[in-house]
Amino acid sequence: MSDRLQMSLPPVPQNIADTLLALARTVGEQIERALPEVRTVQYKKEQRATPTDPVSEVDRELERFLRREIGQRFPDHTIIGEELGIDDKGGPFAWVLDPIDGTTNFVNGFPLFASSIGVLEKARPIAGAVWASTSHALRPGVYHVGAEGDLRFDGVRLTRREIDPSNRRFLSGDAGATARHPGWDHRWTGSAAIECAMVAAGILHSSRLHGTHIWDVAGGLALVQAAGGHVRARREGGWQRFECFSEDDASAKALYAWSEDLLIGAGPTLERWIAAVEAL
Ligand code: IPD
Repeated sequence: MSDRLQMSLPPVPQNIADTLLALARTVGEQIERALPEVRTVQYKKEQRATPTDPVSEVDRELERFLRREIGQRFPDHTIIGEELGIDDKGGPFAWVLDPIDGTTNFVNGFPLFASSIGVLEKARPIAGAVWASTSHALRPGVYHVGAEGDLRFDGVRLTRREIDPSNRRFLSGDAGATARHPGWDHRWTGSAAIECAMVAAGILHSSRLHGTHIWDVAGGLALVQAAGGHVRARREGGWQRFECFSEDDASAKALYAWSEDLLIGAGPTLERWIAAVEAL
């Protein structure tokens, strides 16, 4: 069984694909400009002994900017964002925003973070864009789903790297993990969106995303699917094929509250992952 990926997403409306690339590019430029200036950091879970979940003024400013732009272009579409919540329009389409994913890296100047925009139709990822602070091309850029439902990097179609059969060490992201798994060489990047982009590009073989929220992965899962990758969610009965975020209830409120463990990668890679994890 080959790890070669062949599927892609169905075509995406041109205006959605164009908006994704344009907004992700602009946000990326703003993040690059803001990085040396980050001053104010607050913690959303301040009451804990060790405060967690930092947010900077840059996160909020960028989300306000994205909401304004998307609202002007797509006034009927719902918007859900990590920092500013839900603007529910009740229709089938929702834009899901994480203005900075990997905020801990960002506020410390550790140069591995992303900005993620996902588009859902009835809770199913149909398109997305992730500006990444670094990439397979060793520079910042935007991984995005093109109008043909294909994976692109800065506008150019990207073919996922083939896995070299002589490589016996499988790199796997493990965002939020607390344990290592034998046989896998984990990279804990601090950004679920970066891990999705790296899986889509074929740099990481897989990633296990722990207790992610919808804004961490809405953009990235579309990239993985556009590259022909698979997504599994830990649900009743084991690792189930992921089709959409919320099967019974596609309301904005249900999407905002969504949180699950996910596995992403090529199909055979995920089978190996599941066998290894379940055997522990
Ligand atoms: C975080 C990152 C990280 C994951 C955390 C998220 P944020 O997102 O995606 O990889 O482990 O659970 O909160 O808060 O930096 O946008």
